[in-house]
Amino acid sequence: MASLSTAEEPEKTTVLNGLSQGATIDEKVEADQTEIKKSDSGVNLSTSGEDGKDVECMNSQKEVKHETPYSVLEEPNRVGRKIRVITIGAGASALNLAHDITTSPLDIELVMYEKNEELGGTWFENRYPGVACDIPSVNYQLSWAPSTHWSSYYATGPEILQYFKTLAEENDLVKYIRLKHKVVGAWWKEEDQEWHVKIQRGDDPNDVIDDRCNVLVNASGVLKHVPSPLYLKWKWPQIPGRETFQGPMLHSAAWDPSVEWKGKKVAVIGSGSSAVQIVPNLQPHVPNLKCFIRSTSWVTAGFGSNFAGKDGANFKYNETQKKILKEDPKTYLRYRKNIENELNSRFRFILNGSPEQAAARAFAESEMRKKLAKKPWIADHIVPTDFAVGCRRPTPGNGYLEALCEDNVDVITAPILEITQKGIRTTDGVEHEFDVIVCATGFDVSWRPYYPTIGKDGHDLAEDWKDAPSTYLSITVPHFPNYLIFNGPFGPYGHGSFLPIAEVLSKHFMQMIEKMSMEHLTSFHPTEEAVADFAEHRRTFLPRTAWNSPCRSWFKQGRVDGEIMMWPGSRIHFFENMKTPRWEDYQLKYANRNRFHYLGNGFSAREFDGRDLSWYLGLLDGEDKQPVFSREQIQDLLVV
Ligand SMILES: Cc1cc2nc3c(=O)[nH]c(=O)nc-3n(C[C@H](O)[C@H](O)[C@H](O)COP(=O)(O)OP(=O)(O)OC[C@H]3O[C@@H](n4cnc5c(N)ncnc54)[C@H](O)[C@@H]3O)c2cc1C
Ligand SMILES: NC(=O)c1ccc[n+]([C@@H]2O[C@H](COP(=O)([O-])OP(=O)(O)OC[C@H]3O[C@@H](n4cnc5c(N)ncnc54)[C@H](OP(=O)(O)O)[C@@H]3O)[C@@H](O)[C@H]2O)c1
Repeated sequence: MASLSTAEEPEKTTVLNGLSQGATIDEKVEADQTEIKKSDSGVNLSTSGEDGKDVECMNSQKEVKHETPYSVLEEPNRVGRKIRVITIGAGASALNLAHDITTSPLDIELVMYEKNEELGGTWFENRYPGVACDIPSVNYQLSWAPSTHWSSYYATGPEILQYFKTLAEENDLVKYIRLKHKVVGAWWKEEDQEWHVKIQRGDDPNDVIDDRCNVLVNASGVLKHVPSPLYLKWKWPQIPGRETFQGPMLHSAAWDPSVEWKGKKVAVIGSGSSAVQIVPNLQPHVPNLKCFIRSTSWVTAGFGSNFAGKDGANFKYNETQKKILKEDPKTYLRYRKNIENELNSRFRFILNGSPEQAAARAFAESEMRKKLAKKPWIADHIVPTDFAVGCRRPTPGNGYLEALCEDNVDVITAPILEITQKGIRTTDGVEHEFDVIVCATGFDVSWRPYYPTIGKDGHDLAEDWKDAPSTYLSITVPHFPNYLIFNGPFGPYGHGSFLPIAEVLSKHFMQMIEKMSMEHLTSFHPTEEAVADFAEHRRTFLPRTAWNSPCRSWFKQGRVDGEIMMWPGSRIHFFENMKTPRWEDYQLKYANRNRFHYLGNGFSAREFDGRDLSWYLGLLDGEDKQPVFSREQIQDLLVV
């Protein structure tokens, strides 16, 4: 059961400290701690006892002598300690975790800091014309909150944002969220076994509050836009003269709705997923649109296109279909599972040399050429020849190729030389004049935190990830105890909806928090050996995939030859392997030098709190509640 609501807003410079209020890992970390380290020779038990002497033994069977005698914790076992959790962000991932926390029996205090003035993350920030999901709406939702209101097969951005807002309100999650609170720094304090976090309120850099937590969850998203001069994160293209343009310049991730583009001469730079959605939405409303396309890419039908309209087109649900979503949960679930099955099958396209990859490529090329039949030279320029479908995240393009063929659209393939006061000059010497320039040029995908994130022994995450990020299974980092990441480097982002990934990770994180609470674990972080083994495995496996071919992609930090930041396997492979934490890959620290201190006074909490004392035989009416026994209920079985 989670606690803490917005009523407990921290005052400026007031430490909201669960520990000092006796709320979180209550006794802090006693000087008396145990750390388990994995070594080549097995498990070492090293303890730094309250006698101040480090004792190490290679064989945990041996008795370790301590000057201070051990004493039993005089409380029942599995009462559970309070754990305070902070999430950075209130997008889809954090909302899902909040739901898991709020429905959990564990004693967890939660606060979600969100820098924006609204929740929803991606779907609040990306407001360009045509922003929409490339995953069917019924599969871009959380499994515990199936909406009965989707208006169309591929929902628009505003409809998805509304979905998350409604979900947060209906599930009472809003109370955890502090809007316009930007995390500007986080420091792990080994002596407290806590994260100390600094948060800026609103736009004033001097209005900074402090907070502390046992677990810091980075749910700040991978594709992010941080609209502050201090933390510029979305990317203006690095084109000489960019600042000289006299007209309005828009970025897809920071769309300014007050800019009037209708009826104007417009340029769109880029041909990624954002441009693919923007172009067909601008084209009907402008006299001339020039699209600057520097690279090839596979423009495909949307994910789940077998269940979409003709040629993968979007369609609006009719009244009969809407009635099924509302009134027939079993058919609704069957429908979602059919579509998910199609999404999951896509990993086979990724494997180099597979028949599925060859078929996907042949199909995508023929579809692209068919749609570009009016201007076939465009196909010669943009159909990839040296990488397979899926090397970059596919760019579903309903209406994009068709828009490129319209009379008021020009595709410019000459590389951009510079941006001028009046427009864009290409290397062939032509200066193209515009009223408005749209940069659909993507994000900073370096994964490095843009604020200090300082772990154990002064490790700085931005510094540790200077050349390339490195994670344990995408979720944790050595030297950064109790730091959990959603959508971290090396997750399964290539072929399907992000939301099931968030759900699987949330359940994984909840198991970690449960262990902390029940077994009085104060910190955990992965061993360097485990991270190195993971790196060796993925680096050996990933050359088998299309991601390894020469395309520029955010999967490779925006480079052609960057390290592939993907999970070495399918989504299903990831889900199966993330079912439970592998504690053998972690260094653990307990509140007491004796790891079994939590065994307490020999009773279990269940013996006092009204839960069923013979639950292991099965529950009556599914309720974990101690029944009031009466012999009458079983009298036929009694000997009279
Ligand atoms: C235009 C676009 C379209 C997409 N379409 C799809 C799609 O069709 N299907 C799909 O599966 N995925 C899609 N994605 C990926 C999408 O990002 C994920 O599906 C999902 O929204 C990620 O949710 P999240 O909560 O992890 O991150 P986000 O949605 O990015 O949320 C992170 C939150 O953290 C906040 N934050 C960041 N830094 C701080 C800080 N320092 N302090 C406080 N708060 C902070 C942000 O303001 C944001 O609200 C798309 C991404 C983009 C950019
Ligand atoms: N639901 C959806 O359908 C949807 C919509 C939008 C975004 N997304 C997600 O967001 C990710 C990012 O999409 P995005 O389109 O915003 O970014 P992106 O995929 O990184 O595409 C950026 C585009 O801008 C071009 N570009 C960048 N700098 C340039 C320069 N200096 N000169 C000329 N061209 C330049 C790139 O060319 P190069 O290819 O040569 O680098 C590329 O075409 C997607 O992969 C997807 O995961 C999803």
